[in-house]
Amino acid sequence: MTDGPSFSGREIAAVVSFTVLAAVIGVTSYRAGLNLSGNAGGAQMQAASGPAPVNGQALFASNCAGCHGGQAQGGVGPALLDAKTWTTAAFNDSVLHGKHPSGRELAPVMPRFAQTGLDGAPPAPEQIEAIHAFVKGL
Ligand code: HEC
Repeated sequence: MTDGPSFSGREIAAVVSFTVLAAVIGVTSYRAGLNLSGNAGGAQMQAASGPAPVNGQALFASNCAGCHGGQAQGGVGPALLDAKTWTTAAFNDSVLHGKHPSGRELAPVMPRFAQTGLDGAPPAPEQIEAIHAFVKGL
């Protein structure tokens, strides 16, 4: 069996360096894979924290309750009983632009939320809808 295949030093060196190279490439791509999934996780977190979660009750508490009362029962501003029956569009016009459905301009005390923003940010339609839904549910 002395005539079996034998390898020169160069061949052995070649096999060894190929193996090492393969291992390095394997580890590197594994790490790259981990990094990629790490990035994907970051993107997901960003997506989750992108559009603010819409919570009508919280929005009402921080933007409206000070004047209309915690249960919209009235205070500086009137009780929002009529507004429960309004369409979303009418509610939008009054809250964003101070336009009562009758066409009357609301007193300037009532903020124009299109200008002041909700919690300091430009109001999104779904936020106004959520506030309306909260008021309707009271
Ligand atoms: C600084 C006080 C103040 C804040 C804050 C405020 N309002 Fe008003 N709001 C008023 C006053 C005062 C009126 C009455 C204006 C009028 O009739 O001319 C009013 C009127 C309204 C009306 C019309 C009600 C009706 O039946 O005529 C709606 C609807 C309304 N507010 C919704 C809201 C919502 C929703 C928020 C929060 C996003 C809010 N308001 C925040 C003071 C406020």
